[in-house]
Amino acid sequence: MANLEVNVAGVAFKNPVIPASGAYGFGREYECLYPLETLGGISCKGMTLNKKDGNPPPRIAETPSGMLNSVGLQNPGIDYFIEHELPYLRTKDITVIANVAGSTVEDCMEIARKLEATDVDMLELNISCPNVKQGGAAFGTSCENAAAVTAAVRKMTTKPLMVKLSPNVTSITDIAKAVETEGADAVSLINTLLGMRIDIKTRRPILKQNVGGLSGPAVFPIAVRMVWQVANAVNIPVVGMGGISTGEDAIEMMMAGASAVQVGAAIFTDPFAPVKIIEGINRFCDDNHIANVSDIVKSVQPW
Ligand code: SIN
Repeated sequence: MANLEVNVAGVAFKNPVIPASGAYGFGREYECLYPLETLGGISCKGMTLNKKDGNPPPRIAETPSGMLNSVGLQNPGIDYFIEHELPYLRTKDITVIANVAGSTVEDCMEIARKLEATDVDMLELNISCPNVKQGGAAFGTSCENAAAVTAAVRKMTTKPLMVKLSPNVTSITDIAKAVETEGADAVSLINTLLGMRIDIKTRRPILKQNVGGLSGPAVFPIAVRMVWQVANAVNIPVVGMGGISTGEDAIEMMMAGASAVQVGAAIFTDPFAPVKIIEGINRFCDDNHIANVSDIVKSVQPW
């Protein structure tokens, strides 16, 4: 059996597979299926300062090889997370990433301040949600805004800080470099690509918000390309996500430059997807005589 341990900015994960923020809640629904300890870590649902109900339905639409969502960061608020969800997760031997999704720079700073007093392992600053009017992608689609919110949150935390990037930009490497300069310890990418579906009978968009974020296998090649570009542009670790649904996909993403991977949409069609992906990585390593999975990171040999 290969050694599947990986390290991202000093944070240890027992294997490289992490359910992505928004795709796994806080893990409770899954522990009846398999021990959460099977996973490398968990990236919790993005948290705002106060409870948020999210956008009105319909907010999910199926697409060829993927899905659109316009959930709008529904979450119980940071205090509830710290009081109820984090203690639960701390009963599990699992690396916990808190996703910070404040609507303003000040909110993000306050969420980071509150998390600083906890034993959460890592912060993931969400500057890429396309489904909210304030915060999210409004931070992550300009270098200036991405740099400003990263610098502000950096001041509030000594914890490893990962910044989750939007693909809805002209140059994701410029955004990655901007957040690296302001003290990000890692970047995660990609969040969803902005998309739209229309019901041709009613001539109405399927989503009540008209547009939403596309995820699933349809976006995988875009995610691999962006992870590869960013991994070659910055000196901090990259966590790759976007359409990963098999162990082979995870291996490909790691070869592109990802030190670990997050799995999102695949969990909605198969709640066992993260476990199957871990098994697939293990099988690939065994079949190819790879002793340490971290040896494959950024091992692609471009033409
Ligand atoms: C959402 O809650 O709208 C999705 C989360 C995200 O895109 O960051």
